[in-house]
Amino acid sequence: MNRLVGLLSTSIGQKLVLAVSGLALVGFLVVHMLGNLTIFQGPEAMNGYAAWLKGHPLLWAARAGLISLFLIHIALAISLAWSNRKSRPIGYYHVRVNQEATIVSRYVVLTGLLVLCFLVYHILHFTLGVIQPEHSLFLTANGRHDVYKMVVLSFQVPIVALSYLVAMVVLGLHLAHGLGSLFQTFGLFHETYTGLIRLGCIVAASLIVIGNASIPLAIWLGLISL
Ligand code: HEM
Repeated sequence: MNRLVGLLSTSIGQKLVLAVSGLALVGFLVVHMLGNLTIFQGPEAMNGYAAWLKGHPLLWAARAGLISLFLIHIALAISLAWSNRKSRPIGYYHVRVNQEATIVSRYVVLTGLLVLCFLVYHILHFTLGVIQPEHSLFLTANGRHDVYKMVVLSFQVPIVALSYLVAMVVLGLHLAHGLGSLFQTFGLFHETYTGLIRLGCIVAASLIVIGNASIPLAIWLGLISL
């Protein structure tokens, strides 16, 4: 415990924990996306997956872990951005390097805050049923929550589908830059491979954006319906 507190009191320690928590959140995103993509297999598949997830004995432990990860990630991102702001660059080289790093870190913080706004909206929408509550009341013939119907009815409303599409683009920007910073934190940035690593981050972020965005888009275009 003392070691963790010690680690978190240094800037490099904070960066490491930020990177590890970010990586774990990307893991969640991939699993969540793969689960949601069962919508393309039809109502049985998606509702079966949702029911399995809700009935899982470790659901609340996983939720607690996920919330902790989000809180740690957000708190450290804000704390590091705050100390970056306060630190004063010395000399021409440091001015340039620091300016670049500051622009990237501000950009990541800004897109991260927008993703946080999306997350609050998303949980109010699909988990708590506060937004469009009429869509979250349906049950299947065997008494399960009809998640398929809730998602399809929601994204048939163009403004809702559009808001998710915009949010996925912002998420993609956050991931592309966040993943880039992660490589730097782990010391895996080498001049020779800079281009390749940047490309890899963009491809990984794009796959998550395309996978997620395909759902509202397919419903909006009528490719998935009730
Ligand atoms: C178009 C893309 C997405 C779709 C269709 C989608 C769909 C859903 C649905 C249907 C639920 C509720 C599940 C249920 O209660 O049965 C849910 C919950 C959730 N989603 Fe998403 N989601 C998407 C993107 C995202 C993204 C990008 C994030 C994170 C940034 C995210 C984070 C969450 C979280 C944290 C929950 C709550 C999980 C829980 O209740 O334990 N989702 N999502």
